[in-house]
Amino acid sequence: MHKDIIKVLLTEEQIRERVQALGEEITRDYQGKDLLLICVLRGSIVFTADLMRHIDCFATIDTIAVSSYGKQSHSSGVVRLIKDLDENITGRHVLIIEDIIDSGLTLNYLNDLLLRRNPLSVKICTLLDKPERRKIDIQPNYRGFLIPNEFAVGYGLDFAEKYRNLRYIGVLNPEIYKQEEDK
Ligand code: IMP
Ligand code: MG
Repeated sequence: MHKDIIKVLLTEEQIRERVQALGEEITRDYQGKDLLLICVLRGSIVFTADLMRHIDCFATIDTIAVSSYGKQSHSSGVVRLIKDLDENITGRHVLIIEDIIDSGLTLNYLNDLLLRRNPLSVKICTLLDKPERRKIDIQPNYRGFLIPNEFAVGYGLDFAEKYRNLRYIGVLNPEIYKQEEDK
């Protein structure tokens, strides 16, 4: 285990099994439809890459990037669009793929932004959900795991851009983000 991790929340195997089940569920729901997967950079890169290989229907992929964090463990409350989609989503079924829903601000912003472009449907798939911290009532259509109110890293999730390459999801030692936030 990495020295900055105090406990493993989800093992590689637990993640693999759940991601496969999510892919199968999405496959059933979108049979015969043209699906556009939207990977929210950068946290959901790893999740998207694994999930899409379990989606067995016509699917294409695009990316979008937003930011609300910086070197903090809680949302600043202001969401900014950093990189827009490359595709036109009007008249298409889109599925937003996120790493985690925390306050809900990021997904609420994304959902509104995409709905204004008149897609056929917008749904949300999140790997992790921390419902205790919700500020806006937004529910995912697909959810990998509910997690407690602790700061999780690994499998794409970062703190200050680090730990994304861990193969499991762990709880970061709070000392690490206290040090950064005090700077
Ligand atoms: P929200 O806008 O507060 O829902 O936050 C969503 C974004 O915050 C996610 O896309 C993550 O990038 C980041 N985030 C929230 N909680 C965590 C966490 O526990 N670990 C790592 N990133 C997190
Ligand atoms: Mg992040």
